[in-house]
Amino acid sequence: MSVTASPPSVRSFTLSRSPRGIPRFRMTVRSSVVSVAPILTKLQKECATPLPVLRHVADAMAADMRAGLAVDGGSDLQMILSYVDSLPTGNEKGLFYALDLGGTNFRVLRVQLGGKDERVVATEFDQVSIPQELMFGTSEELFDFIASGLAKFAKKEGGKYHLPRGRKREIGFTFSFPVKQTSVDSGILIKWTKGFAVSGTAGKDVVACLNEAMQRQGLDMQVSALVNDTVGTLAGARYWDDDVMVAVILGTGTNACYVECVDAIPKLKGHNSTSGRTIINTEWGAFSNGLPLTQFDREMDAESINPGEQIFEKTISGMYLGEIVRRVLVKMAEAGDLFGESVPEKLSTPFVLRTPDICAMQQDNSQDLVDVESILYDVVGLKSNLNARKIVLEVCDTIVKRGGRLAGAGIVGILQKMEEESKGLIYGKRTVVAMDGGLYEHFSQYRSYLQDAVTELLGSEISKNVVIEHTKDGSGIGAALLAASNSKYEHDF
Ligand code: BGC
Repeated sequence: MSVTASPPSVRSFTLSRSPRGIPRFRMTVRSSVVSVAPILTKLQKECATPLPVLRHVADAMAADMRAGLAVDGGSDLQMILSYVDSLPTGNEKGLFYALDLGGTNFRVLRVQLGGKDERVVATEFDQVSIPQELMFGTSEELFDFIASGLAKFAKKEGGKYHLPRGRKREIGFTFSFPVKQTSVDSGILIKWTKGFAVSGTAGKDVVACLNEAMQRQGLDMQVSALVNDTVGTLAGARYWDDDVMVAVILGTGTNACYVECVDAIPKLKGHNSTSGRTIINTEWGAFSNGLPLTQFDREMDAESINPGEQIFEKTISGMYLGEIVRRVLVKMAEAGDLFGESVPEKLSTPFVLRTPDICAMQQDNSQDLVDVESILYDVVGLKSNLNARKIVLEVCDTIVKRGGRLAGAGIVGILQKMEEESKGLIYGKRTVVAMDGGLYEHFSQYRSYLQDAVTELLGSEISKNVVIEHTKDGSGIGAALLAASNSKYEHDF
């Protein structure tokens, strides 16, 4: 963006365009815009992610991974052992359930697996949104809600699904919060993230919490695998493609897991893995080293329910992008009369502007930006002229671009660490990063910024080998597959 010299009351504003971004335009704006211009310029400067910044983030991610593998608490990244040492082979057979708690929705799924030839014979799922009050309630209330949803779903099991006589139904439980695993089917909640503040769960085994709730419901099922959503996604994607080595979630929250050699995990004591490999849940949302942050990020963090935590997540994930934009708009509304005389009450409400609104605004191709106009008015109560709408789009683009590019740098950090360990086995062949989450799925602009950063960092040749593949609902089937491979009953797969 450049602001050209002109009389104080009317200025010429040239907004430059990102390659696939907002159309290039030149416009004439009034004095109020002059007062927001420095805010926008400063924002763009502080959020910039040129190659050296991306490189620093990728290097720091790799270094933090190493430090977290050396000793528990060695870095921001917890590098949690998943106890998943072998990934699905395709031979898995039988009826398995999956339960997925991780964001605004809770999902239950059943799948009948038919082995190498038949693969997924049948699958069904149900989705329930989590009432807001349960996110701030007690542990018992939340787990009772989950267990009752599971009980209702299990009752509807029909003819295509078959459970051998004398067996309990087995569950793969996807629990998408930082958990210190104590085995493949147990783990202690370290802390809640993504706006959950349920009392009485941190420090407890979440499988025990679920078992108690299932007992209260009279539901006789058992958890055979407790997995993070990244681990479920990796397992689900690997079922179809042997080249999958990394899984990333970019949704409400964010995280990544990958396949690690046990020899590269100094903190791993007394854990034997027959495959010589194991899946590590990085919990990269807690990464913070060298991120380009602004006053808006710092204020949002300070007012959050987990200040000082999950800084990478707060910079790149779906829960926060809309809120950062809202904070910038508040500052702009206070600084000038760009949006009218006063700051509307709606605009002052935290989290009222959501990332899907940002996405919808960025997809407005109309000449007068009519969608932007109605979103600004309906969601945050802002009356806007065309100039104001264009500035809002620049703000959105700045925040989305930073998020997508930093996510790309994080992915390269993981690949870099893996390549250093096993020269040629990552960059020298096809390597698939399985990706899930609504932010990545629905936000094409974010996706292309992410891909641009990966290509810039790896160069065009190596990046041809790195395939980022969207795997919708990989984590549900993946958790069921891990329940199968960790079944309590004798099996021949
Ligand atoms: C959690 C992770 C999870 C990620 C994506 C983060 O807030 O800490 O465990 O994998 O969100 O759902």
